[in-house]
Amino acid sequence: MKRKTTLILGMLLGLMAVTAEAQCVQGIRPGQEWPDRKGEHINAHGGGLMFEDGKYYWYGENRPERGFTTEVGVEVYSSTDLVNWTDEGVALAVSEEAGSPIERGCIMERPKVIHNPRTGKYIMLFHLELKGKGYAAARVGFAESDSPVGPFRFIRSLRPNAGKWPVGFSRRDIRRAAKLKEADYKEWWTPAWRKAVTEGLLLARDVPGGQMSRDMTVYVDEDGKAYHIFSAEENLTLNLAELTDDYLDYTGRFVRIAPGGQNEAPTLFKRNGVYWMITSGCTGWAPNEARMFRAKSLWGPWEQLPSPFEGKDAEKSFHTQGTYIFKINGTEDGFVFMADRWNPASLKNSRHVWLPILFREDGTPVIRWVDEWHPQGE
Ligand code: DGJ
Repeated sequence: MKRKTTLILGMLLGLMAVTAEAQCVQGIRPGQEWPDRKGEHINAHGGGLMFEDGKYYWYGENRPERGFTTEVGVEVYSSTDLVNWTDEGVALAVSEEAGSPIERGCIMERPKVIHNPRTGKYIMLFHLELKGKGYAAARVGFAESDSPVGPFRFIRSLRPNAGKWPVGFSRRDIRRAAKLKEADYKEWWTPAWRKAVTEGLLLARDVPGGQMSRDMTVYVDEDGKAYHIFSAEENLTLNLAELTDDYLDYTGRFVRIAPGGQNEAPTLFKRNGVYWMITSGCTGWAPNEARMFRAKSLWGPWEQLPSPFEGKDAEKSFHTQGTYIFKINGTEDGFVFMADRWNPASLKNSRHVWLPILFREDGTPVIRWVDEWHPQGE
């Protein structure tokens, strides 16, 4: 009798497991819970996407129910339709070793993975803050793997471009910047302070040890060159820095974008020979109005345009902050804006907001709200 009950119970549980495994989502519902194949809300925040061999890989911050530090690492999910995602587990795990730069309790944010065709390796860059130091470390972490789903091996963390000055900075610019001292500009946002920041007050301060590196994305251009775009200079100025051919270091060539403009959450894409960058302002976890920039060359000049968001709550970017832009495989123009609707009371439960990017006749991107949509790719 007991055996029979156990058997029936076992069959029932098996059936439930199959049903759970087969969980299917019909479309992308921005701002709603997004269950993975097991029915769990996708825990990959501040994420990025990579497409390879018919599969999409979504990397993001595995965030705890409560608190702000990284207890697990970077999570990776896979999908063939961009709607239904399988949790492939932890791509880069925190370290249990005391003193490791990625020790459990550090902060790993905005991971992005790119495949290097020359070396065959998958390279992950992420914003790293050291355990117990808040957001003071402002470093970038590098990790690599032989497989898109990991495990990734942590290589090192650093502040980019130590000893280097931006492309286009003349000897005169360098001499002028090197003379600027923070002690002379204690009060922020005055005209004199703004001028000094633009001329390189904080840039020059950080040249010896490398530039601060917080919110970030990675962009690979059509020629295979990769770039790391990040918030530097106390989040006041964006840097766009060229990576070496193995994507594991910097060539030393970089430009500053919008000095003193306080941009976070950079996202970048190219369409019809024009580079577009959508960023956010700098208000912690609270949403703000997105910004947009355009350039004919990654090296600039970058021209600032109004926010691409249109409609109700556009001035708060629909209560989101961008994290990545990708193109749906097999489409001409199927660009998707990936964003987070942060929930600081429970970062794990922050919602994902993915919206298709529309284009005006003159090519300017527009983002409008949709309750539900269905990506059409190959
Ligand atoms: C805004 C950033 O975009 C997030 O990635 C995170 O660093 C929060 N600030 C922390 O307040």
